[in-house]
Amino acid sequence: MKKILSLAFALSLVFAITDCGQTVQNNVDATESMETVPASNDTESAQEEPVSADESVAPDIKEEPVMRAEFNFETKTVMLNSGYEMPINGLGTYSLHGDECINAVKSALSSGVRLIDTASAYGNEEEIGQAIREAVDEGIIKREDIFVITKIYPGSEMENPEQSIQACLDRLDIGYVDMMLLHHPDSNDVKAYEAMEQFVAEGKIRSIGLSNWYVEELTEFLPQVGTVPALVQNEIHPYYQENDVIPFIQDLGIVVQGWYPLGGRGHTAELLGDPVISEIAETHSVSSAQVILRWNLQKGVVVIPGSSNPDHIKENTELYHFSLTDEEMERINDLDRGEKHDWY
Ligand SMILES: NC(=O)c1ccc[n+]([C@@H]2O[C@H](COP(=O)([O-])OP(=O)(O)OC[C@H]3O[C@@H](n4cnc5c(N)ncnc54)[C@H](OP(=O)(O)O)[C@@H]3O)[C@@H](O)[C@H]2O)c1
Repeated sequence: MKKILSLAFALSLVFAITDCGQTVQNNVDATESMETVPASNDTESAQEEPVSADESVAPDIKEEPVMRAEFNFETKTVMLNSGYEMPINGLGTYSLHGDECINAVKSALSSGVRLIDTASAYGNEEEIGQAIREAVDEGIIKREDIFVITKIYPGSEMENPEQSIQACLDRLDIGYVDMMLLHHPDSNDVKAYEAMEQFVAEGKIRSIGLSNWYVEELTEFLPQVGTVPALVQNEIHPYYQENDVIPFIQDLGIVVQGWYPLGGRGHTAELLGDPVISEIAETHSVSSAQVILRWNLQKGVVVIPGSSNPDHIKENTELYHFSLTDEEMERINDLDRGEKHDWY
């Protein structure tokens, strides 16, 4: 399913996408604040007629090639093609609920985490919103300093996307949402994506993207929509590396974010105890988790480790005082087993 397409085809897809909709910003200054107003207004282009795959193959050589978004390790952010700046390490909240979720989010915000990932399907948007509002009231953060991602789910949610998107906004109750993703491909995904574009036009969502879209799915989906996704969130960890998919996505000017960075619950012990990763961790006097997260960052993959443990949450932010050598990166790359830890 996740076969590698030729570079020529990838480039033609890039040009097709930039032709039919949003122009990806190049060489943007990642030091601008997250409040940055997008340089390109996509309200009109988002409503253009979709371009079919057949119409999209002739690249215009005068068009500026799409550049990969560079991570800024000073500001710990990346500039998205939507014109907004996103932190490159965050907190995943899958399986966190109730007070445990509220405490984890507040602990993360106190530890400097500025990116929170949730989803309608996690059933915790209300707790996330409550934690953020409390942190704002307590002076821990300002709303505009954090970046919140949520997702709508296939089935009835994507069948009725306007209601589902509004329900996410209502449950979070933090004003706008920084990023909304389609959680998985679905028969109504184009319709749901167009609804998200409409919410962007209304200022209720700032950026949009996809989750669990791989090369084949992207190749089919992208020519049908007017806005290049800002982000694709897929399973990525040392035992499932997606080495064919990551550069394909990045070459489209789309930022890649990895879920299950530590292998996911039930798999973390084996991954964190891996002899290669443990040895590299010892060399740098850091934990195995920090090595894996840093490996992701050096590959240009945004990390959202999940945790309810304040010590782990803090440790997972301390990724910028060391770097992995090319040889260490290669040794971790060699651990790839193509071993998915979930079905999608
Ligand atoms: N888009 C999708 O389809 C999709 C699918 C799955 C997940 N996600 C997102 O990705 C996020 C990450 O996935 P995940 O949370 O399921 O798995 P994960 O981040 O790979 O692993 C979480 C596990 O690692 C442990 N952990 C975290 N930091 C640690 C550290 N420094 N040292 C030792 N153990 C540590 C946590 O335990 P403690 O609580 O004890 O720290 C927890 O058991 C999710 O929360 C969710 O936001 C998205």
